[in-house]
Amino acid sequence: MGSTPPRRCSTAPPLKGSTIDWSVDAAATGLVDERYNLAISSFLACHLADLGKLYVEAARLTRPSGKVVLVDYHPFMLLKGVPTHFTAPTGEAIAIANVVHLFGDHVAAGCAAGLTLLELREQLVDAEWIRENQRLFGEPRLAGHLGHPVSFAMVWARA
Ligand SMILES: C[S@@+](CC[C@H](N)C(=O)[O-])C[C@H]1O[C@@H](n2cnc3c(N)ncnc32)[C@H](O)[C@@H]1O
Repeated sequence: MGSTPPRRCSTAPPLKGSTIDWSVDAAATGLVDERYNLAISSFLACHLADLGKLYVEAARLTRPSGKVVLVDYHPFMLLKGVPTHFTAPTGEAIAIANVVHLFGDHVAAGCAAGLTLLELREQLVDAEWIRENQRLFGEPRLAGHLGHPVSFAMVWARA
């Protein structure tokens, strides 16, 4: 999300070997139908009230037999009241409101969008993660959540 107007698909150059530098609503990208082999949503879904629109958009963008990968914070962590936050390119620490979507909500939304769930994995906070946090941030962030689910990844297929 940003103040820069979205670059529309009709004027976008071929994407092979390039990156896209633009901001747009992930649930209404304006990109063309069925153009991509892979659509990825990374730590976004928990900020959206309407999960259905995100899955419909991801399914619309992917080619037949294409994949949709969705990674996000685990609903368990959100239900514990742990806020999500990230660092903006300016270095500013930002927290965005969260919406708890249970796995059943994801499955219902993905299936309704015509996707098939191939794989679901959940990540627990482990000792390695706590050590890495200590190295990066100088404090053992998440140490109090050792053994609890912190994130998950889903792989979906387009028919
Ligand atoms: C926790 S950050 C994740 C950033 C990045 N995707 C990553 O995995 O490191 C959440 C991001 O979601 C973006 N965001 C929130 N609502 C959005 C929307 N409706 N469409 C697109 N991006 C959105 C925010 O601007 C922010 O960059």
